[in-house]
Amino acid sequence: MTRLKLKLFVLSFLVESCICPQVVKLDRFTFDPDDPSLFVSESAILDQDFNRSYISGHVVLTRELNDLMITSSMDIIRSHRPEMRLYKVTLNFCSILNNAYKNKFVKTLYHSFAAFLNTRPKCPLKANFNYSFERAYVDERLIPSLIPDCTYRLKMSFQLKSKQLAHMQLDGRYMSKSGP
Ligand SMILES: *[C@@H]1O[C@H](CO)[C@@H](O)[C@H](O)[C@H]1NC(C)=O
Ligand SMILES: *[C@@H]1O[C@H](CO)[C@@H](O)[C@H](O)[C@H]1NC(C)=O
Repeated sequence: MTRLKLKLFVLSFLVESCICPQVVKLDRFTFDPDDPSLFVSESAILDQDFNRSYISGHVVLTRELNDLMITSSMDIIRSHRPEMRLYKVTLNFCSILNNAYKNKFVKTLYHSFAAFLNTRPKCPLKANFNYSFERAYVDERLIPSLIPDCTYRLKMSFQLKSKQLAHMQLDGRYMSKSGP
C-alpha cells in the first residue's frame, strides 16, 4: 500500500469504530487568502449555540479554478502530553468535489459538508459565483471513539500547482460526554 492509501485506510477504520455521544466545540474559525488577487470576497463566521458550534462562510473567486489540491492535517493536544498529529494528507480537491474518491472517510466528510452548501461545487470552480455554506456543524457521530478528550487544530490549505492559494484553520475542544 502507498502511504496515502494506508493513511486513508486508518481514517476509515477510525470512522467505523465511532460511538456517541460527544461534544465538539469550536473556539476559532479562520479563512485566510494567501493569494488575495483570487478573491472578490470571502468570510468565515463562527456562531456558538448551547451545545454546538456552527460555521458559515462564503467565497467569490475572481477567476475560474481547476486542478486544486487540498492539504489537511489534524493535531490534538491533551493536558501534560506532547501534541499528537492524527493525520496529514494531500488530496485532489476537484476529485473530492466530484465525489471521485472511493475512500469511505473522504466520502463521509464530503456528504456531511455538502449538505450545508448552497450548491454542489464542481471543477472548474466558477468566477464571480457566490459559493456559501450556512451553519455547518460537525456531526458528532463522525468522531472516532478512539479520540481522547482534547483540544484540536484542523488545518486545510488549498494549492494550485504547488502555489498556496488560501488556508483555513479550526481550533476547538472535544469532550466525550460518556467518558470518565
Ligand atoms: C444539549 O445537551 C443537553 C445535555 O446533554 C441535552 O439535554 C440537549 O438536548 C442538548 N441540546 C442540543 C440542542 O443538542
Ligand atoms: C454571498 O452569500 C453569503 C451567504 O448568503 C452572503 O452573506 C454574502 O454577502 C454574499 N456575498 C456576495 C459578495 O455576494
